[in-house]
Amino acid sequence: MSDSTLSHLRCSACAATYSADVLHNLAPCCGRPLLACYDLERAARSLTPAALAARRPGLWRYREVLPVRDDRFIHDLGEGGTPLLDSPRLAARLGCAAVRIKDESRNPTGSFKARGMAVAVARARELGASRLAVPSAGNAAGALSAYAAAAGIGADVFMPDDVPLAFRAECRALGAQVTLVAGLINDCAAQVRAGAAEHGWFDMSTLREPYRVEGKKTMGYELAEQGGWQLPDVIIYPTGGGTGLVGMWQAFAELEALGLIDARRPRMVSVQAAGCAPIVRAFAAGARHADLWRDASTIADGLRVPVAIGDALILAALRDSGGTALAVDDDEMLAATDELSAACGSFAAPEGGACLAALRRLCRSGWVAPHERVVLFNTGSGTKYAHLWR
Ligand SMILES: Cc1ncc(COP(=O)(O)O)c(C=O)c1O
Repeated sequence: MSDSTLSHLRCSACAATYSADVLHNLAPCCGRPLLACYDLERAARSLTPAALAARRPGLWRYREVLPVRDDRFIHDLGEGGTPLLDSPRLAARLGCAAVRIKDESRNPTGSFKARGMAVAVARARELGASRLAVPSAGNAAGALSAYAAAAGIGADVFMPDDVPLAFRAECRALGAQVTLVAGLINDCAAQVRAGAAEHGWFDMSTLREPYRVEGKKTMGYELAEQGGWQLPDVIIYPTGGGTGLVGMWQAFAELEALGLIDARRPRMVSVQAAGCAPIVRAFAAGARHADLWRDASTIADGLRVPVAIGDALILAALRDSGGTALAVDDDEMLAATDELSAACGSFAAPEGGACLAALRRLCRSGWVAPHERVVLFNTGSGTKYAHLWR
């Protein structure tokens, strides 16, 4: 058995609570995401810097604050434990004190989506699900396919029909059932929801089930641990469904409750593509929710997300942290991707390039000051987008 201190689920929109030990999608009360809650007092007794020093690298080192109760459901493919790379050259070029890159391309299946799926697949299995389905821009589908294959269960993945070949090929190689949908990720999501009753699959859409965000929050735990329990001044994150940003923001609150960090927080920045920027538009308008973005288009498949169920959570994290949201165009993104690849010594995804393009603008405008320390996320590998460099 593991040392999970998971206690219950709570609705992110009201005070309702639910049992964590049955399968759930959205909160029945408000139709909004359910979030996991832990007994952090108990977790603090064993989740200490000294205990962590003796644990294996990877995200399962934070098992007290992860939902899986029985270790037999965990299939560790090497998720998490990604490097935080210092780039003094980028810092000098941009004019800020430090630029560090959290290189998530080193995860299984080449993206940070592995974190969410490692945890959510294990938990779904533990709660009795035997077939899993997901709508995806590409990377989440690959990650689900990998963890479902490791668990020996079926996966159905739904992707837009113009998804790059590498994503489709990866899912098929891993044994998933691939369906291509004429439309975008929200159209894929509608098909997953519609088929759940008929086909008996569990809907693994991000933030429509409570545990992918739990896997992704470990990026926040790692940032804190790798920074010697100090967080940077600014975090720049490429936002589609926003699960990584929401997860990290939640991680920082937990870390403070665990006594591992103080009350200071980074300013959180959402970067989107100029051709699909619903969060940027809502942030600028002071809105609590983001409207659907029509005719979404960008080379960064992971940012082609016209509507996010976690919109209110993303916008609250940006505002509560004193952060911001901005959009960059595809040309800027692609040029910055090359620069980011050189800085991290691995082929970066365009979503990562979007973060660097955004940082350049924020440094030029003075929003990021010369004494500040910034962390950028390279959320995935460029290899699956190789067609962009033809
Ligand atoms: C490489 C990459 N970066 C960023 C994102 C957006 O992630 P999130 O949905 O957590 O905002 C995605 C989503 O598909 C992605 O594949």
